[in-house]
Amino acid sequence: MLGENMLGDKDKKTSRLAPGDPPCRLQSGPFVVDCPPGKYAYCQCKHSSRYPYCDGSHLGSEIRPIKLILEEAQRIAWCACGKSKDKPFCDGSHSARGEDSGSGSGPQP
Ligand code: FES
Repeated sequence: MLGENMLGDKDKKTSRLAPGDPPCRLQSGPFVVDCPPGKYAYCQCKHSSRYPYCDGSHLGSEIRPIKLILEEAQRIAWCACGKSKDKPFCDGSHSARGEDSGSGSGPQP
Protein backbone atom coordinates (compact mmCIF):
# COMPACT_ATOMS: atom_id res chain seq x y z
CA MET A 1 0.00 0.00 0.00
CA LEU A 2 1.23 3.45 -0.86
CA GLY A 3 0.92 4.96 2.62
CA GLU A 4 2.81 2.14 4.30
CA ASN A 5 5.66 2.26 1.78
CA MET A 6 5.98 5.99 2.19
CA LEU A 7 6.07 5.69 5.96
CA GLY A 8 8.77 3.04 5.61
CA ASP A 9 11.02 5.54 3.81
CA LYS A 10 10.77 7.99 6.71
CA ASP A 11 14.32 7.73 8.01
CA LYS A 12 16.01 7.92 4.61
CA LYS A 13 14.26 11.15 3.62
CA THR A 14 14.22 12.88 7.01
CA SER A 15 18.01 13.17 7.19
CA ARG A 16 18.12 15.46 4.12
CA LEU A 17 15.52 17.94 5.36
CA ALA A 18 16.28 21.35 6.78
CA PRO A 19 14.06 22.80 9.51
CA GLY A 20 10.83 24.05 7.94
CA ASP A 21 11.16 21.84 4.85
CA PRO A 22 8.04 19.79 4.11
CA PRO A 23 8.37 16.11 5.00
CA CYS A 24 7.76 15.19 1.33
CA ARG A 25 5.92 12.00 2.33
CA LEU A 26 3.14 10.77 4.56
CA GLN A 27 4.13 10.76 8.20
CA SER A 28 2.47 9.81 11.44
CA GLY A 29 1.78 13.36 12.65
CA PRO A 30 1.32 16.93 11.46
CA PHE A 31 3.82 19.12 9.65
CA VAL A 32 3.86 22.26 11.78
CA VAL A 33 5.44 25.32 10.21
CA ASP A 34 5.32 29.11 10.40
CA CYS A 35 3.85 30.07 7.03
CA PRO A 36 4.32 33.52 5.55
CA PRO A 37 1.34 35.18 3.84
CA GLY A 38 0.63 33.74 0.40
CA LYS A 39 -1.11 31.04 -1.56
CA TYR A 40 -0.84 27.39 -0.61
CA ALA A 41 -2.05 24.20 -2.25
CA TYR A 42 -2.45 21.13 -0.05
CA CYS A 43 -1.84 17.81 -1.78
CA GLN A 44 -4.78 15.42 -1.71
CA CYS A 45 -3.42 12.75 -4.06
CA LYS A 46 -0.55 11.95 -1.64
CA HIS A 47 1.92 11.56 -4.52
CA SER A 48 3.53 14.99 -4.27
CA SER A 49 7.29 15.10 -3.93
CA ARG A 50 6.70 18.15 -1.70
CA TYR A 51 3.96 16.60 0.47
CA PRO A 52 1.89 18.06 2.09
CA TYR A 53 2.23 20.76 -0.56
CA CYS A 54 0.95 20.08 -4.07
CA ASP A 55 3.51 19.64 -6.85
CA GLY A 56 1.01 18.92 -9.63
CA SER A 57 1.28 15.13 -9.36
CA HIS A 58 -2.54 14.91 -9.34
CA LEU A 59 -2.73 16.17 -12.94
CA GLY A 60 -4.63 13.72 -15.11
CA SER A 61 -6.77 12.54 -12.19
CA GLU A 62 -10.02 13.77 -10.66
CA ILE A 63 -8.23 14.77 -7.46
CA ARG A 64 -7.66 18.45 -6.78
CA PRO A 65 -5.51 20.17 -4.14
CA ILE A 66 -7.09 22.22 -1.39
CA LYS A 67 -6.17 25.84 -1.94
CA LEU A 68 -5.57 28.19 0.95
CA ILE A 69 -4.72 31.89 0.98
CA LEU A 70 -3.07 33.31 4.08
CA GLU A 71 -3.50 37.05 4.44
CA GLU A 72 -1.03 37.11 7.32
CA ALA A 73 1.66 34.85 8.70
CA GLN A 74 0.32 31.90 10.69
CA ARG A 75 1.63 28.76 12.29
CA ILE A 76 -0.11 25.92 10.46
CA ALA A 77 -0.36 22.29 11.53
CA TRP A 78 -0.77 20.69 8.10
CA CYS A 79 -2.20 17.19 8.17
CA ALA A 80 0.61 14.96 6.96
CA CYS A 81 -0.95 11.61 7.86
CA GLY A 82 -3.83 11.92 5.39
CA LYS A 83 -6.51 11.07 8.00
CA SER A 84 -7.78 14.49 9.08
CA LYS A 85 -11.45 15.28 8.56
CA ASP A 86 -10.54 18.98 8.56
CA LYS A 87 -7.93 18.98 5.77
CA PRO A 88 -5.64 20.69 5.14
CA PHE A 89 -5.33 21.04 8.90
CA CYS A 90 -4.44 18.40 11.45
CA ASP A 91 -7.45 17.51 13.59
CA GLY A 92 -5.74 14.94 15.78
CA SER A 93 -6.96 11.97 13.74
CA HIS A 94 -3.37 10.75 13.38
CA SER A 95 -3.48 9.64 17.00
CA ALA A 96 -4.91 6.20 17.68
CA ARG A 97 -7.21 7.77 20.27
CA GLY A 98 -8.09 10.75 18.07
CA GLU A 99 -6.16 13.08 20.33
CA ASP A 100 -3.54 15.46 19.09
CA SER A 101 0.07 14.95 20.09
CA GLY A 102 0.38 18.52 21.30
CA SER A 103 1.07 20.34 18.07
CA GLY A 104 -2.46 21.72 17.80
CA SER A 105 -4.98 21.50 15.02
CA GLY A 106 -5.69 24.01 12.32
CA PRO A 107 -3.96 27.36 12.08
CA GLN A 108 -2.20 28.38 15.24
CA PRO A 109 -2.58 31.87 16.64
S1 FES B 1 -1.43 14.71 10.93
FE1 FES B 1 -3.27 14.04 10.01
S2 FES B 1 -4.74 14.32 11.58
FE2 FES B 1 -2.90 14.98 12.47
